[in-house]
Amino acid sequence: MNHFITLKDIPAKDLRKILIDAKKRKDRRKKFNTLEVDKDKPLMGKLLIQMFEKSSLRTRLSFYLAIKQLGGETIILRTNELHLGKGGESLADTARILSTYCDGFMLRSDSDKKIEKFSKYLTIPIINGLSPSSHPTQVLSDIFTVEEIKKKPISELNICWVGDSNNVLNSLITASVKFSFKLSIGCPKDYKPKKFVLDWVKKNKGKINIYNDARKAAKNADVIFSDKVISLNDKVDKTKKIKDFKNFKINKKLMSFAKKDATFLHCLPRGTEVSSEVFLAKNSKVWLQALNRVHVQKSILLYCFGKLR
Ligand code: CP
Ligand code: NVA
Repeated sequence: MNHFITLKDIPAKDLRKILIDAKKRKDRRKKFNTLEVDKDKPLMGKLLIQMFEKSSLRTRLSFYLAIKQLGGETIILRTNELHLGKGGESLADTARILSTYCDGFMLRSDSDKKIEKFSKYLTIPIINGLSPSSHPTQVLSDIFTVEEIKKKPISELNICWVGDSNNVLNSLITASVKFSFKLSIGCPKDYKPKKFVLDWVKKNKGKINIYNDARKAAKNADVIFSDKVISLNDKVDKTKKIKDFKNFKINKKLMSFAKKDATFLHCLPRGTEVSSEVFLAKNSKVWLQALNRVHVQKSILLYCFGKLR
């Protein structure tokens, strides 16, 4: 079994294996109905528990479809409905019970420490469904989407991020090292990636370019990514932060600095960081991006359950 907590922990060759499997499975399903199970039914009889401490639309539904299409089942919990959330039961005992009743655990949490702690007491795999420091299932799926659209390995492309230095960007930075792609980041001076992220890049001989000017970051990009300026439970002065990002809005003008056929991607939900014109344009592939999470998470589940062939 394997945990899926951060892309940092997973060897590049395993990440690639997940993407190859996802492509094969996606291709084979072209004429399948939403809930039709893949022919090999690899997770028949398996139960995934999903638990959310924060809101979610995509992660919840894409994991629901992913496990169902592999032949398994899922139950979705909210922490405040458990003894754990009310302080009536320890995390360790909750983890032991989860390990008794089910086969995999997906957690969206407000605390990276909590995910780590769960992983210590669980005897089943845990998947990070978004934490303050990363969003690994989102970004691995985004690599798949980029390669599907551009029909090239991501290592041959110029990838750009314009926006906040948040969990999604942290995972994208890790991915840039694991998949060896060029990453240019455009963000205000006071919002650059945290030191622990930059130290990891340096230690792993990666290189990212950070600009305080969105146009410089976007120059010659094949893909421009963004995300909300204010993340879930972001404890900041929201008005100030939005003002600080006023020159980092993705609009038609900014897109014109990228390559002519540049793709726009965004994990959703969106805020004011992108104009509707760009978000709904032909080169915006955000709906495909959301859909691909189903396909990639299926292969992540197989990796976690030790069933990836
Ligand atoms: N992109 C993403 O993780 O969306 P949700 O917050 O809706 O799960
Ligand atoms: N950075 C965002 C991603 C939402 C999917 C957040 O953490 O809220």
